[in-house]
Amino acid sequence: ENWFASQRRLAGKRVLITAGGTIERLDPVRFLTNDSSGKMGFALAEAARDMGAEVTVVAGRVTAKPPAGIELVHAESAESMLKAVEQRYGASDIVIKSAAVADYRPVARHERKMKKSGERLTLELERTTDILQRLGERKEHQFLVGFAAETDDLDTYALDKLRRKNCDLLVANDIGMTGAGFYGDTNAVRIFDRAGLVKELPLMTKRQMGEAIVALIADRMEAGYG
Ligand code: CTP
Ligand code: CA
Repeated sequence: ENWFASQRRLAGKRVLITAGGTIERLDPVRFLTNDSSGKMGFALAEAARDMGAEVTVVAGRVTAKPPAGIELVHAESAESMLKAVEQRYGASDIVIKSAAVADYRPVARHERKMKKSGERLTLELERTTDILQRLGERKEHQFLVGFAAETDDLDTYALDKLRRKNCDLLVANDIGMTGAGFYGDTNAVRIFDRAGLVKELPLMTKRQMGEAIVALIADRMEAGYG
């Protein structure tokens, strides 16, 4: 096989990636979010683009700079990310859910800025829709890749998430480990399929990791998995 063809192994494929953290609003000036930077999602997008794919990134709150040559769609809350992803799901060949989606949102979203009163405030939260689980339930031809961030019992929780959400691969971040996870430019992960551990990627830059994960997805699709 020639070099050019091997570099363009995702030519003609549509890749949908979610990146960053979602924002759940309390009032016009306050929101709940998390530490996700979007770096891992953007690195995956860059790698898929370089392999010839048509890439769309649905991004929540991101602090990293988006790569050129991709379509960028902004979605603030978990519910708006769900809508943006569902709209594009049918036309996607590969879906990678690297966004850190809020599990809960405030029950009340105040139209006006909340005024303080009293010494304590209790916020009531309700569950958001699990986007990945929804995609797993409606999976047709798509190759579906989930992420998981864990501090303990990584293998058990990761495998459980993969099965529950009907993913073809699940990339598990050990966020308890130095140099891995939300902060910084590096990451270390363990990747699972239904049968168990598929690959362990040691500490490397998110750019290198993006390439390794996308290459693994291409390998698995070519081998007829998923
Ligand atoms: N996810 C999602 N929608 C949600 C919550 C999570 O699509 N409302 C996706 C994430 O994008 C990720 C995967 O599910 O690909 C796992 O997210 P994670 O937070 O690790 O798992 P949860 O199932 O939310 O479980 P928990 O936070 O309790 O560990
Ligand atoms: Ca979660």
